[in-house]
Amino acid sequence: MASEAKQQQQQQSILVTGGAGFIGTHTVLQLLNEGFRVSIIDNLDNSVEEAVDRVRDLAGSNGSRNLQFHLGDLRNKDDLEKVFSQTRFDAVIHFAGLKAVGESVAKPWLYYSNNLIGTLNLLEFMGKYGCKKMVFSSSATVYGQPETIPCVENFQLKAMNPYGRTKLFLEEIARDVQKADPDWRIILLRYFNPVGAHPSGQIGEDPKGIPNNLMPYIQQVAVGRLPELNVFGHDYPTKDGSAIRDYIHVIDLADGHIAALRKIFATDDIGCTAYNLGTGHGTSVLEMVAAFEKASGKQIPIRLCPRRPGDATAVFASTEKAQKELGWKAKYGIEEMCRDQWNWASKNPWGYRPQP
Ligand code: NAD
Ligand code: UFG
Repeated sequence: MASEAKQQQQQQSILVTGGAGFIGTHTVLQLLNEGFRVSIIDNLDNSVEEAVDRVRDLAGSNGSRNLQFHLGDLRNKDDLEKVFSQTRFDAVIHFAGLKAVGESVAKPWLYYSNNLIGTLNLLEFMGKYGCKKMVFSSSATVYGQPETIPCVENFQLKAMNPYGRTKLFLEEIARDVQKADPDWRIILLRYFNPVGAHPSGQIGEDPKGIPNNLMPYIQQVAVGRLPELNVFGHDYPTKDGSAIRDYIHVIDLADGHIAALRKIFATDDIGCTAYNLGTGHGTSVLEMVAAFEKASGKQIPIRLCPRRPGDATAVFASTEKAQKELGWKAKYGIEEMCRDQWNWASKNPWGYRPQP
């Protein structure tokens, strides 16, 4: 990038909510590398400050100069007042939220309270301080069980559980806010299945408790923390009977946020627009296991189990809109995803925590 453009960006300050989490840390690192100033607000509910420290180190002088961390909760307006009164933000990337589907079924109030009230407070403070540009973490979950694939952004939306409903409601809220005040520019990014880690092996996904998602589970089997992988469903109408998803490298996902931010700054009539961030390729659970075994040299014992309730047979993204309008396309395939995930896992078998 031309040094003048980079210089100009250096004046741009981005607030990243949930910036200590899995996708947040990788995106903050790319933002710092691109010369943005970054403030994180995170309540460390599902993350640790060590992750932010590692991002600061990885970003070198940009990290020590341009990264601020605020321990705070979006449900607490005093925390937001403190952050917004200190810095004038040019845009917000909003990751903060709870994301475990099963937990959302058991504790719907917690999910509605955290994800909806947190976001409503954030929108209130953005409005109050005149920062009306937002990139929001949505999810492929808003496609429910798609009738046809690939999933296209103009499909009718539906949610299958309270977590999914928070994303669907928040998309609607964002559309209404923007409709009421056209100064707002909002991009809704619908992520497919983010996996992998930064190639340094210094940052990666570190879920608390038993992982819900496939790749962190496989990773914990590989390092000996769990005995075997339960493969949910082996009778799907797919080539090997297991379900198909669109896995995307977290580095590609982080780059997608930079592309969305640039689009927002450059387009005054973006309105409130949704984009898929996926690769457009489907991979089955068993193919993913085989790719991870190859990358790690470890055998992953599996147990074939019944289908997980609510799971779709096959989900993958149409990538045309993001490619055409954001100029963004995923670069990495499952080989790189598994390589980088294993690099992170083998260097940090217990995540950011020391071995108990
Ligand atoms: P994560 O849990 O690693 O990161 C979320 C961060 O938000 C955590 O650090 C957590 O402590 C923080 N947080 C939660 N509630 C907060 C609050 N009220 N105030 C301040 N901080 C709060 O999750 P992630 O995988 O990085 O996901 C980021 C976003 O992307 C989430 O909104 C999630 O729903 C969405 N998303 C994730 C996936 C996925 O598979 N990882 C897929 C689709 C969408
Ligand atoms: N799976 C297993 N064993 C496991 C975990 C998962 O076989 O231990 C299977 C699932 O049944 C599914 C596939 O692996 O077929 C992927 O499952 P994940 O839980 O990793 O991902 P999902 O596609 O179910 O959902 C994830 C997030 C959602 C998000 C969605 C789309 O959990 O929040 O991706 O972004 F909405």
